[in-house]
Parts: sequence; C-alpha cells; structure tokens
Amino acid sequence: MVTAYDCTFAQLIDRAGVDILLVGDSLGMVVQGEHSTLPVTIEEMVYHTRLVARARSNALVLGDLPFLSYQTSRRDALENAGKLIKAGAEAVKLEGGRAQAGTIRALARADIPVVAHIGLTPQSVHRMGGHKVQGRDEESRQRLLDDARAIADAGAFAVVVEGVPLELGREITALLDIPTIGIGAGPFCDGQVLVMHDLLGLATEDHKMPRFVRRYAGLGAQVTAAVEAYAEDVRAGGFPSDAESYHAPRAAGAAAAAHEPQTCGRMQEIESVAGMQRWADRQRALGLRISFVPTMGYLHEGHLSLVREARSRGDRVVVSIFVNPIQFDREEDLISYPRQPERDRRLLEDAGVDVLFAPHPREMYPDEFVSSVNVERLTERLCGAHRPGHFRGVTTVVSKLFHAVKPHVAVFGEKDLQQLAVVRRMVRDLDFGIDIVPGRIVREADGLAMSSRNARLDAQGRLAARCVPAAMDAARLAVARGARSAEEIGAAVARVVALEPRARLEYAVLCDPLSLEPAERIDAATQIAVAVWVDGVRLIDNVLLDPTETSPARLARHESHTPGEGYESVPVEFLLAELDRR
Ligand code: KIV
Repeated sequence: MVTAYDCTFAQLIDRAGVDILLVGDSLGMVVQGEHSTLPVTIEEMVYHTRLVARARSNALVLGDLPFLSYQTSRRDALENAGKLIKAGAEAVKLEGGRAQAGTIRALARADIPVVAHIGLTPQSVHRMGGHKVQGRDEESRQRLLDDARAIADAGAFAVVVEGVPLELGREITALLDIPTIGIGAGPFCDGQVLVMHDLLGLATEDHKMPRFVRRYAGLGAQVTAAVEAYAEDVRAGGFPSDAESYHAPRAAGAAAAAHEPQTCGRMQEIESVAGMQRWADRQRALGLRISFVPTMGYLHEGHLSLVREARSRGDRVVVSIFVNPIQFDREEDLISYPRQPERDRRLLEDAGVDVLFAPHPREMYPDEFVSSVNVERLTERLCGAHRPGHFRGVTTVVSKLFHAVKPHVAVFGEKDLQQLAVVRRMVRDLDFGIDIVPGRIVREADGLAMSSRNARLDAQGRLAARCVPAAMDAARLAVARGARSAEEIGAAVARVVALEPRARLEYAVLCDPLSLEPAERIDAATQIAVAVWVDGVRLIDNVLLDPTETSPARLARHESHTPGEGYESVPVEFLLAELDRR
C-alpha cells in the first residue's frame, strides 16, 4: 500500500503494481503543509479521492475518513464514508480500536468495506502526547491486542498497524485472520504501507524522517535541481533553443531574423570552481551523465574529435580551458604558450559543448596552495625523465578539474600517451570513479600529429617537423622488415630524425602502452613513443607497432586525416632508401 493524493502520482504508483492506493489524511501534512492531520476536512478528502480514483486502473482505492467525520455519530460516519465511496473509493479507513467497533459494524452492514487503523493513530496525537510509538508497556500492549480483536470481530477486512514494536506487530498479525498492514510496525505484518512523499524523498532535506521510512528516491533534490537548471538556462539565454521554438513561414521569418539577437543554444561559461560544482551537482541530481574534455586551449581538430567522443558518451559535455602553470618546467614555455580564447569559444560553441569551464589561475591555485597529487614510477620515464615536475603538475590539475566538473567520463588524447596512462592509473589508484576514454591521434595531411605546439613552428620548422611522423613510419617499416629489438627499431627512428638538421631526438622508447614498462623486444603489439625537438619546440608522437603487420602498403599512414595545409608527406620509399643507403 502507498498513499496517493493526485492523478499523476496515482497513475505512476498504480503502474508500479501496488495493491492499494491510500488517499490518506496525511495529505494534511505532506500536501497542505499542516503540522498534523487534524485540520483535514471530509470535503478535501472527497476531492483528493476523486483525483486518485480517476487515475487508478488496477489498485484498490482506499479513502481515509478524516478527524471528526466519523467519531461524532454512526450517522455521520455512514454519510461521510458514503461521500468517499461516491467519489470513487472502494473502501474506507478509520482510526481506532474497540471504540470504533460499532461504527465499523454499521459501515460493513451498509456494504462499505472498512480498513481499521490501530497503534499510533495520528488523529489522537494530542491524547498520545505526540507521534509516539505505542504498545511498549504491558498494559498498552494488552489494549492493542484487544483493539485488534475488536475491529476484526466488527467486520474490518484489514487493519493498518502503525508505530508499535515489531514484536507486537508480529503478535497482532498472528492473532488476526484479516491481513495486517504495517507502518513502523516491523517486518512481520502481512503488508506494508508508506507515505508516498517519504518513499520518493519528496520532502525538503531539513524534514526529519521517522525511523521506519526508507527513501527509495531523492525526487525532492531532483525537482530543485531541475528547476534551478531551467532558471539558469533561461537567464543565460540557453532556453528555449531553436529546436524548442516555433518558426514563422520562411519569408516573414527571414525578415524578422535580421533584427533578432542570436541567442539560441548558448554555451554556458563558468569561471569559479564552486559554480562548476553546483552545475555538476544539478546535472547529476537529474541523472544526467557528464562527459569532460580537459584542454589548455588553442584548440584544433584533435581537440574537437575529443569533444565528439565526449558527446557520444554523455548527456552533457564540459570542456575546460586552463593553461596550467604548474606543469610547465620552463617559464618561457608557459609565457609563449599560444592562446586564442575567442576562437576557442566559437569552436566549442559550434561543437555543441554545454559548458566551458575556464577558471583563472588564482581560482585554481589560491595563495598558499601547497598540495599536490603524484603518481610514482609511471611518471619517471619517457617525458617524465626530461621534464621534472611536469606530471605532478598534470595530475594535480586533473584532480582539481575532476573535483570541479565531477564527470562520469573524461576523454584524453592518445597523442599524450604517458599523460593518458598516468591519469588512468591515478583514477584507478585513488578511486575517482571516472571512466577514462582515449581519443585517437588526429594528424595533418603529412602525418604530423595535431598539437597546439605546432603553431610555434615557422614555415621551415613546420617542414622539418615532418621527420617526426616519418620516424614513426621508419619504426613500422623496420618492424615489417623483421626488426624486433628495441635497439634496431630505435636506431631506425634515430636515423630518420638525424636526416633533419633542425631536429634533435630526445628519446625513442618501446614500451607497454598501459604500464609504460620499457620493452627490449617486441613480440606482441608494443608502443613506440618519441620526443623530438624541432627549432626549440618539443614534439611528441607515438604509434603501435604490430609485429604481425608486414604489408608495406598498410604502413602508409592509417590514422585519421584532416585537410592539410599543403605539406607533402615524406615518402616512405625515400626513407627506406635513405635507411638502406646509410
Ligand atoms: O493518512 C495516511 O497516510 C495513513 C498512513 C500513514 C497509513 O493513514
């Protein structure tokens, strides 16, 4: 049994398959905001009974007789019970034991099925001195057993037993042939009843729940979050969107559109951590999945492919732009890091991003910020060996961003192979509960992996940078031709980079893509990761080397391409010839 007071909820509850919808006089408290059930009138009960009865298709509708609608005389009881029946109830409930036996008998004689209600009877709140558990001492236990016998003998077809010790609930259930329906009466009653608002968590959070309530949902918080989100969208111009608006016929619409501000579907921008957390809490309360792409801005197609991946994995997409000062090991790199906030904003808005989180460095690192997150071992090799403190900066900022955005899923590009592995490990070790999803490397037409750093190369440097993907090709060719040792493959890479006078190889390492453990030989698919300096710009790249892949045709670049800027790819055959020649 569950209470219901209106058509919508009655329908939803009936659909869930409960046996009885009780139109309880508890409506005084949960619907009308009174402190007890006493002010509720028979007219109000009739009204709500009608709403519920209209919606019901399977459950029995039970109408509650309110305070002083049946205690005054049997005649009143019959008349008022009749009103509930005429409004659609199939049975009525009244509170009281032996004292109401005569009334129950009279109603039953008039073919009005009756459910009795004993124990803590809210209409007797003043006599009981509050909503207090009953039947705790021997005398009141005996009284309740007598009450139970009396109402059953009088012809009640069921009894609600409220607020008694579970032992007494069991005793009453064993004593009676009619079903007992408990509320705060323990697990041994034949059935159970809860007030719908309690069960669904509709009450505001400061409302103290009785011990016997179990909340199966938190709809109250969800309602507030939904309305807050709506209000925020309206204020930010994000609602209604174009899809949620009617359109004038074409010609008239075109003329009017010229004068209208373009506000449809606006991306929200949040700068504070607290604001970001509030937004995230609201989405989570609505049951929406948050996908997150952290970036340092200066966006390119690579970032946008991560955004698309994020969109496919969540209901809301958040992108952060934050040039993280604590991950730069060289001050000049931080200062010269390219920035283009306006263009980034446009790109993200066009990509359908819901929120741009763009905190100020002081917001992320207030004065006296002294904490950090560090992942051991994994950060000591590859880039970590050459950039002291870099990964500590990355894991610290990513942790902070995760705490601000509260994502379910976060997408990290595979180009930053070590970053991906380190973040994955951090999330696993520290139980962040976030899915870390890799996004594929996106390359220019000549094979150079897209990176914000590429913009720091001049035309000559950009041409020279082709040696990086060419070195990756050389590694794959070497493997296709039978090379298996790290030494042989590393030498092939080094020879290609050495062909380019503007380039200097920092490292070329064969490793496991997840643990980053260095590999001496490749017997199964193994990653090769490189860092190459070109004209003072540090470029990184990696590729999976598959020893079973032997066809040179398939070794032409196979990653996704976007329209390039006119650079020719370094021909693989040329590299081969060069390698053979030297
Ligand atoms: O009015 C009501 O909701 C009730 C239940 C608590 C049984 O009587």
